[in-house]
Amino acid sequence: MKLKMILTALVIAGCGVSAVIAADDPVKVREGLMKQIGGSMGALAGIAKGEKPYDAEIVKASLTTISTNVKAFPDQFPAGSEANSEASPKIWDNMDDFKAKAAKLGADADVALAQLPADQAGVGAALGIIGKNCGDCHQAYRVKK
Ligand code: HEC
Repeated sequence: MKLKMILTALVIAGCGVSAVIAADDPVKVREGLMKQIGGSMGALAGIAKGEKPYDAEIVKASLTTISTNVKAFPDQFPAGSEANSEASPKIWDNMDDFKAKAAKLGADADVALAQLPADQAGVGAALGIIGKNCGDCHQAYRVKK
């Protein structure tokens, strides 16, 4: 019984350590930010398609995640961090444009937050505007590895 508790404590401590290491790696951080953005877009798409009922709290939380994460995103590209990631080397040659594309997504999410979509159709309309930003930036700056 006691051994089991110690083992459990070790496992919990171990998870904490790996989370700290991951947070120090800019590739892991920015991929995590994008993953959450992808999850939020998925939640909005579920509502827009009528697969999930409209829920103002979920819409708000999803838009907030997109806005917050994309604003932190361009800071996770220190020089030389393109290795082992899908980040195109073009990012570092065009950092201003890359930042502008991130800011555009942040601004579009903020507009939707200020006038929170009130129903399924509204979520669909917001998704159309916000969603354009993903492909715009990915085409220019994301490479498949
Ligand atoms: C400013 C540019 C930019 C915008 C805007 C952008 N992305 Fe990305 N995204 C990237 C880059 C660059 C990567 C690759 C990051 C890496 O591998 O280091 C990426 C990676 C991803 C990934 C893969 C993350 C992983 O697990 O490795 C997902 C999912 C994603 N983006 C979703 C989205 C969605 C959805 C949107 C729109 C709401 C969006 N992105 C908007 C630049 C952008």
